[in-house]
Amino acid sequence: MSWRTSFDISRNSGESLTTQIQRVLKREITEGVLHPGTSLPPSRRLADDLDVSRSVVVEAYGQLIAEGYLEAVQGSGTRVARHLSTTPETVVPTLLNEGRVPSVRWDLRTGRANLSHFPYREWLAGYQRVLQTARQSDLDYPPLSGTPALREELARHLGRVRGVRTTPGQVMVVSGFAHGLGLLCAALPELRIDVLAMEEPGLLRQREFVREAGLRTRAVPVDDEGIDVEALARSGARAVLVTPFHQFPTGVTMSDERRAALARWARDVDGYVIEDDYDGDFWFDRRARPLALQRHAPERVVYAGTTSKSLVPGLRLGWLAVPGDLLSPLERARSRRDLGSDSLTQLAFAELLGSGSYDRHMRRLRARYRLRRETLADAVQHSLPQARISGAAAGLHAYLRLPHGTDEAELVAAALDRSVLVRSGREFSSRPTGARPALVVGYTSLPRSGLAEALRQLGAAYTDVSGRAPTAARIA
Ligand SMILES: Cc1ncc(COP(=O)(O)O)c(C=O)c1O
Repeated sequence: MSWRTSFDISRNSGESLTTQIQRVLKREITEGVLHPGTSLPPSRRLADDLDVSRSVVVEAYGQLIAEGYLEAVQGSGTRVARHLSTTPETVVPTLLNEGRVPSVRWDLRTGRANLSHFPYREWLAGYQRVLQTARQSDLDYPPLSGTPALREELARHLGRVRGVRTTPGQVMVVSGFAHGLGLLCAALPELRIDVLAMEEPGLLRQREFVREAGLRTRAVPVDDEGIDVEALARSGARAVLVTPFHQFPTGVTMSDERRAALARWARDVDGYVIEDDYDGDFWFDRRARPLALQRHAPERVVYAGTTSKSLVPGLRLGWLAVPGDLLSPLERARSRRDLGSDSLTQLAFAELLGSGSYDRHMRRLRARYRLRRETLADAVQHSLPQARISGAAAGLHAYLRLPHGTDEAELVAAALDRSVLVRSGREFSSRPTGARPALVVGYTSLPRSGLAEALRQLGAAYTDVSGRAPTAARIA
């Protein structure tokens, strides 16, 4: 391994040779020049380079090991300690999180698939098959809207499982919904739409994202039937982003009447609805599973799906089923921004869809999440009886309404003291709404026993802040 010698060793300084070597190494490590894990030259070689005796270097290394700057690795010499982080890690906030989060035992944040359920074997088989059968042209830049094989599979799949009315030519493969939303924000102004209405409560970071993409936003309230279409009409917007299957975060499923009203509104204002079907694969309710809103007005609704919940977010794979009028503006917007999504991932996913292994994976996953959802419902009843789960039994999170007067912020802080990380309903509202206090609980990333224990701790945290034993009767 080559090594740059930048030691400025002087025999005339008052400092011993060992101390000088130590000082230089410490400086290079703390200033981030020598990174954690960097191997140092063998003591004999450095001693030769510096023209000092080997014992001087051995002693310097030994001292730095004792101080934790270096570590000796059996069989491979000495290196800069891996645990040292010389530059602070910057955690950039994203659409879904606020950057650095405390490390806790029970993480009940939303938006997380259980990463351990990724179907490694099926994905590997799909990927292997793609590599065995891919033509050279498959390795070129992919068509901007996606590889034909995946667009065909998706059109079939979406029609079959979500009732989406589309054609392969109207499907655009994107790198996750966030990417698709960015493209839509760039395309809508071509249709003289520069305001996007968004649900309140909702993902506040998503609103910032939309504003940073150049659109203005309007917050429109959600009630027990979904977005308030009359308020939407008053907002003056001609485009709206909704989560009709399982509203984020309240869990409300949009009623049939609201769906019809929303489709009418879109036609009346010559506008568009973006349907974010982020967790539409997961329905555990006794009621019939609602199909996509898009089927009521395919010429007005952009249907959006993602593999972030059904597989893992790391794939960065999603899709839009686009009304004909929006297709060209969307493709033009995309042509100015990127060169398409990873074609091998697209082909592998097409393989999974076509072979039926995605369906089988989804059946297994739904069964697992159904059990977790039941565990959560039991645990709420048992450990936090003051709370009511609102909305449909669907998706990967639940919205827990709490008695009036509960201080959400205090409860979240008390939960954190007990090593439970959970979000309050307030964190998804841009203004005080007078809505009942709530917690938003993601239930997929913990094992069932962990979930039960997390709820026990939450119940205890509730007792801590309310200072009195709970009674279910206090809830209105
Ligand atoms: C409301 C909502 N929409 C969409 C997504 C998925 O976004 P992406 O496909 O970019 O991962 C998430 C992810 O958790 C979400 O919570």
